[in-house]
Amino acid sequence: MTKKISVNEPVFDDNEVNTAQTILDSGLLSSSNMYGGKYVKLFEKQLTEFLNCKYAIAVNSGTSALYASLLSLGVTTGDEVVVPSFSFTATASAVIATGATPIFVDISSSNYNIDLSLIKSHISSKTKAIIPVHLYGHPVDVVQLSEITSANNIPIIEDGAQSLGSSINGKKCGTLGNLGCTSLYPTKVITSGEGGVITTNDEELYNQLLMIRNHGLDKSGHTIRFGLNLRMPEIEAALASIQLSKLDDFIKIRRTNSNIISEYIDEFDINIPIENDNSFLNRYLYTVSFTHSRDEIMSFMEKQGINTAVYYRTPIHKMPFYQTLNNEYELPNTDIASSQVLSIPIHSGLSNDDINHVGRSLNDALKSIY
Ligand SMILES: Cc1ncc(COP(=O)(O)O)c(C=O)c1O
Repeated sequence: MTKKISVNEPVFDDNEVNTAQTILDSGLLSSSNMYGGKYVKLFEKQLTEFLNCKYAIAVNSGTSALYASLLSLGVTTGDEVVVPSFSFTATASAVIATGATPIFVDISSSNYNIDLSLIKSHISSKTKAIIPVHLYGHPVDVVQLSEITSANNIPIIEDGAQSLGSSINGKKCGTLGNLGCTSLYPTKVITSGEGGVITTNDEELYNQLLMIRNHGLDKSGHTIRFGLNLRMPEIEAALASIQLSKLDDFIKIRRTNSNIISEYIDEFDINIPIENDNSFLNRYLYTVSFTHSRDEIMSFMEKQGINTAVYYRTPIHKMPFYQTLNNEYELPNTDIASSQVLSIPIHSGLSNDDINHVGRSLNDALKSIY
């Protein structure tokens, strides 16, 4: 049976396998040192150089990165945090974990990112942070966002779980706000199995984050603030480091594959993901939008061994848990996107034959349905 093509999958070689074996042999699997073990420090240094920022703090997931970031800003019960609802549920659950309330804002129909024109009307005296999500790897214009929030001095935490390697106006995602959070989950552009990392240029936030990921312990070994064990193990850090050295190559392949798919569907009147002049996309997801028949297109491609995916069929505020909260949102663009978007495989593990098979199949599906 031929292998099914998935929307995203981890891509690794002997380098990752051999390094994991070396670490297993050494027995040094993790370190409770405030600054982490050898491979945690190596990965953090490499990431600060890649992003051109001062500090990186590796943690055990993207969700932990968001939660730790909120804690470092002192977000707590009674506070509000502005977020898009059209995102993965972790964007809001990290807020809930602090005791604060997520305030959901609609998205712009042009790029599925939080609608900057709606931010002001969602800010109150309780707003303690804003979390823009660089969805599908499309950068939010954080400079424009900070112009809106600066009067109220509201910190910005980028949810860059999907945007490692993307940039806007020459600056990489993860360095645009006060704090940037990345995920290293297996479906992301690079992976360490599970993992996340926070980046910042703010020394005080960095010092808080070092303690937050390690039980709130200071250098003398006393818990001086709330913290947990959010540490990244050494094997994961070593995998992340090797994967980071391949990121530019992975992105090149993703971008080539995206162009191939765009050519296959050029003849149809459907929305394809556009790269603006001032942005560079890592092409984490190639997401198109169909005004009708999305599920038919999915099952057509499924029959040809191609997995496609809907991110996100249910917006966060409509998830059962969030429905139990005081929740009277009207988010029309979010509703439309949820009913129309479909992500097509373009990942860096696809061969030339694979990507052409995906393109032809999508073209055939559209010809038979549109
Ligand atoms: C937008 C977004 N935010 C947060 C997360 C959470 O990251 P993780 O799965 O590493 O906890 C993810 C990833 O799954 C995500 O896509």
